[in-house]
Amino acid sequence: MCIALRHAPDKKSGNPGSQRAWCGASLIYFLYVCTIINHLNTNTMKISRILPAAAAAMALLTVCSCGDNGAEQREDTEKGYENPVVEAIMERRSIRKYQDRPVDRKLLYRIAECGINAPNAMNAQQWEIRIVDDAEWIDGMSRLQLESMPEEISSSMTSDPSFRNTFRNGQALFVVAVKPDGMTLIDAGLLGENIMLAAHSFGLGTCCLGSSARFLTSPAAAEYLDSLQFSEGYEVQYIIACGYPDETPEAKPRNTEVIKFI
Ligand SMILES: Cc1cc2nc3c(=O)[nH]c(=O)nc-3n(C[C@H](O)[C@H](O)[C@H](O)COP(=O)(O)O)c2cc1C
Repeated sequence: MCIALRHAPDKKSGNPGSQRAWCGASLIYFLYVCTIINHLNTNTMKISRILPAAAAAMALLTVCSCGDNGAEQREDTEKGYENPVVEAIMERRSIRKYQDRPVDRKLLYRIAECGINAPNAMNAQQWEIRIVDDAEWIDGMSRLQLESMPEEISSSMTSDPSFRNTFRNGQALFVVAVKPDGMTLIDAGLLGENIMLAAHSFGLGTCCLGSSARFLTSPAAAEYLDSLQFSEGYEVQYIIACGYPDETPEAKPRNTEVIKFI
């Protein structure tokens, strides 16, 4: 009984009113079944004698369950509604320094799967992801970007002794393209956040790079874009650099005044 109530869907909603309703409904249903059995007099073990005891035990269990849920509810409120998803959202930061350590392909694939499980308009799934972990590709494109757009790359990046590439030294890249149409740009954004949160949950860092996407879609980088073999009509929106973090930046303050109850 306790287990069933703990796993009832309303428990997740944290709504104590609905939890109490579940408890009450279970008790009424139990009493109803016992009354019918008693009425039919099919049981030779004199159900009328065990009915009050069973009902009392049931009521006790129900009260215990409701009490537990109430306590959990209070605990949630005191902690300020924390859970692993909220922690991941609040902890994730853009990482611009990575260790020289490759990321397992299975893990990269899993993260991309999380990406394409994002909500998307009409479930049209008009998005494509290319995972690039080939150092030659990454370094080649980085060199080309430095030659073609030196003004776009900050000197602080290249003067850093640990500088390896213009993708902030990322070991792998997720290149995301959509067919620009209706709501697909929104779909792309949601996909990207799934990728970044999933990566974070595995101890990886990420940084969404609009500047690298701009370069990839410029005439100078046509050869690199072609090599990614996106389908006809798909346009690259951003690149997410990924790797094991080599820094732990502080969160940039958020303006909470943009949130209002009406
Ligand atoms: C669409 C988009 C484009 C971005 N482009 C760049 C970029 O070109 N270079 C960069 O260093 N960071 C880039 N960022 C990362 C933002 O600067 C970063 O998300 C923002 O400063 C907030 O910091 P946080 O991610 O650590 O919370 C981009 C982020 C987004 C969503």
